[in-house]
Amino acid sequence: MWTFACPRAVIYGNDAIEAISFETADRVLIVTDKSIATLNYVEMVKSRLKASKIAVFDEVEPEPSLDTAFKCAKLAKEFDPQLIIAIGGGSVIDVAKMARILREIDIDPVGITPFVDLFELGYKKKSKLIAIPTTSGTGADVTWACVLTDKAENRKMTPANKEIIPDVSILDYRIVEKMPSRLIAGTGMDALTHAIEGLVSIWRNDFSDAMCEKALELVLENLEKSYANDLSARAKMHIAATMAGMGFGNSQVGLIHALGHSFGAFFKLHHGICVGLFLPYVLQYYRRSVDAKSILDRVSRKIGLEDMEVLINRIFELMKKIGVPTKISEIVDDKEFSEKLENLIMATLNDASLAMSPRVPDYEETRKIYEYAFQGKEIDF
Ligand SMILES: [Fe+2]
Repeated sequence: MWTFACPRAVIYGNDAIEAISFETADRVLIVTDKSIATLNYVEMVKSRLKASKIAVFDEVEPEPSLDTAFKCAKLAKEFDPQLIIAIGGGSVIDVAKMARILREIDIDPVGITPFVDLFELGYKKKSKLIAIPTTSGTGADVTWACVLTDKAENRKMTPANKEIIPDVSILDYRIVEKMPSRLIAGTGMDALTHAIEGLVSIWRNDFSDAMCEKALELVLENLEKSYANDLSARAKMHIAATMAGMGFGNSQVGLIHALGHSFGAFFKLHHGICVGLFLPYVLQYYRRSVDAKSILDRVSRKIGLEDMEVLINRIFELMKKIGVPTKISEIVDDKEFSEKLENLIMATLNDASLAMSPRVPDYEETRKIYEYAFQGKEIDF
C-alpha cells in the first residue's frame, strides 16, 4: 500500500492571490519573515481578507528553530485563527506547518516520523493553512515534512506526516517577478535536484514520477530564461518547483540532499547552491546503479536528450550559465575544506535522506565524492 498526498488545491496564475478574497475567516494569522514583511506581499494578502482581526508573526529566521515554531504556535493558541497564511520561502512555510499542529496538540515534534505512514496526529485542523511561496524551489507548500533546527541539541529534524501538508498552495506569478537572480539560481537548482532525486529514489512510484518528469522538463526549459528575467519562464519555474515538491515529497530525496545538507550546515551556504553543487557528481556516481541509469537514460530521451550523459553535461552547462558554482573549490578554500572533511563525511553518512538513494556510498566513497566535487573531477567509481 502506498499513499500519494498533496494539498486539496493548488491555485496558480498571475492573479492567483485573488483567491484570498473568497476566504471567510474572521481571525487570520499571517506567518512570514522580516524581509518579506517589508515587501508589499503581506499587504496584497491583507487587503483581500474579510477578517476583522489579523495578526502577523514575522519572526521566522533562515534555518528556523523549533523554538520559533513553538513561539508561533503560542501566538496561534492565544489568537485562535481560523486561517493561517504562510507567505515566504521554505522556512516560513515549514514554521507555519508545525505551528498549526502545535497550537492544538501537545506533541514532541521528534515523534512525528515519516516511517509511520498511517499514524494520525489527532489534531482537528482548527486552522486552515494556505501557503503562498515567494521563491520557486523548496516545494514546502506541498510537502508533508518540515525542516526545523533543534538548537539545544544542535541538530536538524524533519517531522513528517501526511497531515502536515498545507490545505491550499497559491502560486501567484507576480510574487516571483522581482525575485533576485541569485535567488532564482539557487532555488532553481533546488527544484532541479528535487525532480531528479524524486525520480531515482527507491520510494519512487508512478504518481511521483509523473510530477518529477514534468518538473524536470520545465526546469531545463525555463531556469536559464527565468534567471535572465523572462517573466513567463519565471511563472513556469514557480509551477515546476511545486510539481517537483509533489513528486519528491511522495518519493523522497537521497544522496544529493544528504551531501548538500551536511555541506550547507558546515559552510552556511544556500541550500539550493549546496545540493546543486553535488547534483552532476552524484549522477556520475549513479552510472553504476542499474536502476538509476535506466531511469535517467529513459527520462533524458523523453525530454529530448540522448541519455543521462547528455543530461549531466546539460546540467553543468546550465549551472555555468546561471552563475552557480560547479565545484567546491570555487567557494571554499582548500584548508577549510580539509579541516572539515571528516565531519562532512560523518554528517552525510548519518543523514536520513541517504536511505532512499539508489546507490549508497560507504565511508571511503563518500570521501571521494567530496574530494572529486572539490576538484571538479569526473567521478569514475
Ligand atoms: Fe531541497
